[in-house]
Amino acid sequence: METQRHRLVLIPPPFQGHLTPMLQLATILHLKGFSITISHAHFNSPDPSNYPNFSFLPLFYDLSDTNITSKNVVDVTATLNTTKCVSPIKESLVDQIERANINHEKIVCVIYDGSMYSIDSVARELQLPSIVLRTTSATNLLTYHAFVQRQSKGFPPLQDSMLSLDLVPELEPLRFKDLPMLNSGVMQQLIAKTIAVRPSLGVICNTVDCLEEESLYRLHQVYKVSIFPIGPLHMIAEEDSSSSSFVEEDYSCIGWLNNKARKSVLYVSLGSIASWEEKELTEVACGLANSKQNFLWVIRSETISDVSEWLKSLPKDVKVAIAERGCIVKWAPQGEVLAHQAVGGFWSHCGWNSTLESLCEGVPIMCQPHFGDQRVNARLLSHVWKVGIEWSYVMERGEIEGAVRRLMVNQEGKEMSQRALELKNEIRLAVKGGSSYDALNRLVKSILSVNI
Ligand code: UDX
Repeated sequence: METQRHRLVLIPPPFQGHLTPMLQLATILHLKGFSITISHAHFNSPDPSNYPNFSFLPLFYDLSDTNITSKNVVDVTATLNTTKCVSPIKESLVDQIERANINHEKIVCVIYDGSMYSIDSVARELQLPSIVLRTTSATNLLTYHAFVQRQSKGFPPLQDSMLSLDLVPELEPLRFKDLPMLNSGVMQQLIAKTIAVRPSLGVICNTVDCLEEESLYRLHQVYKVSIFPIGPLHMIAEEDSSSSSFVEEDYSCIGWLNNKARKSVLYVSLGSIASWEEKELTEVACGLANSKQNFLWVIRSETISDVSEWLKSLPKDVKVAIAERGCIVKWAPQGEVLAHQAVGGFWSHCGWNSTLESLCEGVPIMCQPHFGDQRVNARLLSHVWKVGIEWSYVMERGEIEGAVRRLMVNQEGKEMSQRALELKNEIRLAVKGGSSYDALNRLVKSILSVNI
């Protein structure tokens, strides 16, 4: 008799910062012997040729006119959970269950992203074991729970105190000003729905015990389902990972980095969604020029369509500084950039993927959170792990120059760099036989035990 193969169906949303960790998880679980199907949107789809061992099913409602920005990401998330997106996923799962039987396979688990919360009830209805993948920090997830709990107890909403430097009692060491901005009704409803899910097999967090031990413990108390801190996913998937970038990476910057001294370059990037306005870009250019440091700067095409035209508008000395010490690309191979010996600091929006990628390479961060979980991550970087600079965040050239020099030149930055290297080593140990390695084995065991 032919042995039955075990297939996992993974459901990511069409956001770069969520799709990438889901594909990394898929890569890891494929190495553990599972067959993989990725059910994804028509929009911002992964490239199947990069993953020849996976099956890809483009399914959800076509959002192809949508350019995802920090302003519409919440509405797009809400749309992804409406019937027009969820029904095709459900129909496809029914179809896949039937076809699996014919092919001596079994769908053993559905793994969905935290923002695709509607899949929770679909999996239950179809009696499929399920897991949610959370792509933010465990500490950030705790803030969502705190929001909802306060609401249910009739306490003043957390967002009323958003500017306060006071510590949030149940979330120390976070201050009110570090909390994610949940200022719209749609956003608050969405958060309540994402944390209400109770996937039968538990929650995978893309984090590491040594970074967030206390938060993971607290998270377990509130979820009361298994928590699997299997991270950093990109590091575990490293040897087998392919590019999941929506945009082509510009490798010319690696050649540029090759000619720069060790730890002499500041890498500047705000991830896939956040951006600066044109006026702010000019201040950034002047601040970077005045700092006298080398810099590699990602300016995405949605931020500014014609960079050369914009460069012409800058003061002459700034243009000269950019030509001498700067490199500007539309999209960088971030993994390679952070691992490059020439990179000594990262000016980042503190997206969780960028945060983990930087920590794994021992690169300290000049924080500039924009939205969502990024303020929480900035607090962890600056206050808890002490590898990140918190500054005024005022987009003015003098402020920027000062912050860049704190990170790249001053003793403060050197000490952060040293701590970042220590953290890098701790994370490596967790992946190679430590806590993340154990959590992954626990997860595999758990999936197989309900499918004997
Ligand atoms: C979003 C949220 O903003 C983030 O806070 C959340 O934790 C995940 O979803 P994003 O804003 O894109 O993600 O930031 P981040 O999580 O840092 O992910 C960006 C990804 O794009 C990283 O994996 C990074 O390596 C990649 N990237 C970015 C590139 O490959 N090249 C670039 O030039 C810029």
